Amino acid sequence: MTGQKRLLVVYYSRSGGTERMAEAVIRGAQDDAIESVEVIVRSALEASPADVLQADGIILGTPENFGYMSGAMKLFFETIYYPCIDHTQGLPYGLFIRAGNDGQGALTSMSRIITGLSWREVVEPVIISGEFDDTCLDGCTDLGMLLAAGLDTGIY
Ligand SMILES: Cc1cc2nc3c(=O)[nH]c(=O)nc-3n(C[C@H](O)[C@H](O)[C@H](O)COP(=O)(O)O)c2cc1C
Repeated sequence: MTGQKRLLVVYYSRSGGTERMAEAVIRGAQDDAIESVEVIVRSALEASPADVLQADGIILGTPENFGYMSGAMKLFFETIYYPCIDHTQGLPYGLFIRAGNDGQGALTSMSRIITGLSWREVVEPVIISGEFDDTCLDGCTDLGMLLAAGLDTGIY
């Protein structure tokens, strides 16, 4: 028995693409096989430092806008960075991105900030680019399930 763990999912979506990805991530994280992980979902606009400080793992999702993460996700990092930087080192994390092009601008911009936080990437990022492809949602479900299963079994 590893005790109850908390997996925080923080995302922003304006036109629904990233939200569909988030729903798949959450579905995976709440798989029946996972016994002791509580999934907490927050908008990037409302997530607080306390949400992050209480989390055992975190998954972040954003669209790529203007070659960068969304403004909402940037606000999230601005909100939590200094309250969390000395207390969340090694926090296991995963990312998902919805983009019209390749999503690399969002990925690079988030990764740079997360490097500053010293969080630990434990699953590959999932990017759905171009036309929305429902089959790629399986990758989102896997992302949620992998991170939750790692917390559940005490691997992370
Ligand atoms: C203002 C704006 C800027 C955008 N800039 C980019 C961009 O730089 N690169 C890209 O790949 N997609 C860009 N897109 C496309 C969005 O990433 C895409 O529409 C995505 O589906 C939005 O996610 P959402 O449906 O979760 O809101 C942009 C969209 C908007 C509205």
